[in-house]
Amino acid sequence: MHKPIIKPALIAHGGAGRRVPVSERAERQRALVAAVEGGSAILREGGSAADAVSRTVVALEDHGLFNAGFGSVLTLDGRVEMDAALMVAELSSTLNANVNIRKKTATRVRAGGVVLVGRVRNPILLSRVVMDRTPHVLMAGRAAERLAREAGLRMCRPEQLVTDRARNRWLATLQAPGKVSRQHGTVGAVAVDQAGNVAAATSTGGVSGKMAGRIGDSALIGAGLFAAANGAASATGTGEAIMKSCLCREAVALLTGVGAQRAAVRAINVLYASTGAEAGLIMIDSRARFGYAHNAEAMEIALFAHPGEIRHLVLDPIAVGASQP
Ligand code: GLY
Repeated sequence: MHKPIIKPALIAHGGAGRRVPVSERAERQRALVAAVEGGSAILREGGSAADAVSRTVVALEDHGLFNAGFGSVLTLDGRVEMDAALMVAELSSTLNANVNIRKKTATRVRAGGVVLVGRVRNPILLSRVVMDRTPHVLMAGRAAERLAREAGLRMCRPEQLVTDRARNRWLATLQAPGKVSRQHGTVGAVAVDQAGNVAAATSTGGVSGKMAGRIGDSALIGAGLFAAANGAASATGTGEAIMKSCLCREAVALLTGVGAQRAAVRAINVLYASTGAEAGLIMIDSRARFGYAHNAEAMEIALFAHPGEIRHLVLDPIAVGASQP
């Protein structure tokens, strides 16, 4: 295997919120690690960050224990309305073969997303279609689903996305009207590839207890995800707060001054200071350094850094409001 110019890396999350029941922990861990294995296989073979985060998120959307794709939470009137998006920052560069150094010449950002879809099996793949095949960034509902059909994506009836687990949670929500769940489970991934391109992807069923037609942060550029020349981020948590604080844009902007881990912690503090809400964040910089933080009860992540093994972590919350380095 040739030595990559930039060591590729990928990090994924399965949502921040309440600690998951003991009965689900082992399977969630297995699924998150398997998803990152799929994405990292693309990176190891020299594939793109966009393909790697897409494959990772597809695996999580297909797993019923996560709140995205199959397993999405339901609206108050019992429907599935999913949001997802993908964003990439791609480098144009020239290689000075004499010294094997790549000179960055420009960055091109591209993005695609969908909201309020319920008939497509993998909203992240439809986001990719919006990004690659339309002049638009964000599409909604039936028109987006028509695009999915035309693109040959796997379609389904909305009820085929509903698990017993999601239906039981919906019934519990109906017993406590007005209460928005702290059980989040949004999924996301960020990656850097061997060429130094970065990508972010986020996918969700939203928050349980949501009204029909509510759109969260996950498909909104700058809120639920962001990618720029210096790094990428994906968020989870209370969408209304993440939108108001443009969480992922904030985190990537902080990268330049303080590095990935401190940027993640500071961004969560910024969100908490202005909203008092719970959220989580994963990020990566263009040199493959990770950052992650949340202020919920727990957040689960899995990481791959070339050439190492995949690590799985259940993160404790940061102390919001504490003095920051
Ligand atoms: N963060 C997911 C949502 O609020 O929809």
